[in-house]
Amino acid sequence: MPKLIVVTRDGTEQEIDGEAGLSVMEVIREAGIDELLALCGGCCSCATCHVHVDPEWASQLPSLSGDEDDLLDSSDHRVATSRLSCQLRFGRTLDGMRVTIAPED
Ligand code: FES
Repeated sequence: MPKLIVVTRDGTEQEIDGEAGLSVMEVIREAGIDELLALCGGCCSCATCHVHVDPEWASQLPSLSGDEDDLLDSSDHRVATSRLSCQLRFGRTLDGMRVTIAPED
């Protein structure tokens, strides 16, 4: 299974197995990391699944939709590589990607 590396808010890094086809948000939640709230369940309407993608991976991701961009603008913690993890499809091409859960807004 492809691996996702997740850094939680206390700085702990975990390597987790991710099922291809799930969203990055779902992979994180299924690993029991519940500080990623994902309140809207992946409908791109809450921004509580905000992550900072490591720069080396950010350029390999599909571009943001207008809705994702607008939601990220509402966060005080947006950085150049911010993404909503529910909008990222996980799979073999993202094996080894490292993301950090953004601070809570
Ligand atoms: S889970 Fe709500 S925007 Fe991603």
